[in-house]
Amino acid sequence: MISKDEQKVLAARTAVDVLVKKGRIFSGMKIGLGTGSTAMPAVKRIAELIADGTLSGIKAVATSFQTTLACEEFGIPVYTMNDKAIGGTLDLAIDGADEIGKGNSLIKGGGAALLREKIVAYNSKAFVVVADESKAVENHGTKFPLPVEIIAEARVPVVQKLEKLGAKCVLREGVKKAGPVITDNGNMIIDCTWENPVDAAKLEDTINDITGVVECGFFTKIRPTAFIAHSDGSVEERS
Ligand code: A5P
Repeated sequence: MISKDEQKVLAARTAVDVLVKKGRIFSGMKIGLGTGSTAMPAVKRIAELIADGTLSGIKAVATSFQTTLACEEFGIPVYTMNDKAIGGTLDLAIDGADEIGKGNSLIKGGGAALLREKIVAYNSKAFVVVADESKAVENHGTKFPLPVEIIAEARVPVVQKLEKLGAKCVLREGVKKAGPVITDNGNMIIDCTWENPVDAAKLEDTINDITGVVECGFFTKIRPTAFIAHSDGSVEERS
């Protein structure tokens, strides 16, 4: 039996190695790099493959300050989506997830990086998520709270509208920082749960239509390939 932390590393490293073997991670490619404790070992594995000469000319777009710092530390060249070298689209994005539902719909944003993660994922030709087995769920809404990134000035009206959609809303508080979490984009996060499972595909649009919402953490428009590590040491590739 392996621990959850070991599963995260196993899923991340296996995914990168399989994708390199299949030619889906390749020299000269434009790659989106995710955020969180499962994405980080994937970033590290890519750095190792650059260092040993397996990969070269990689152009990365980071989804958060955490990932930018990791790329700086590991020596992975970082660009923005707007740089000419990237031209607004990526070959592949690899990231973690908070929930992986049936059909690989996702909840993301546990690390408050959902906005840049979605910009990267939705503008990539392929999307891959890496996760430990605890992230696989039957449905969304009742377990892991859906993060909704909002403009601070719109907090009260947005919460009223989310409550009308049946959500219980909690303003995310900082850790080792008084007051709310402020995202990498200067916004706040409302975490939402429902009493019963919800239709993620429908709610992604409905929530994003609320004025003052910047983005929500449902990812349903691009369905990733998921590499899910299990406690028995196996890794399932779920498309
Ligand atoms: C960051 O905002 C998230 O979307 C992460 O990808 C997600 O929370 C998974 O994080 P862990 O891999 O740390 O569980």
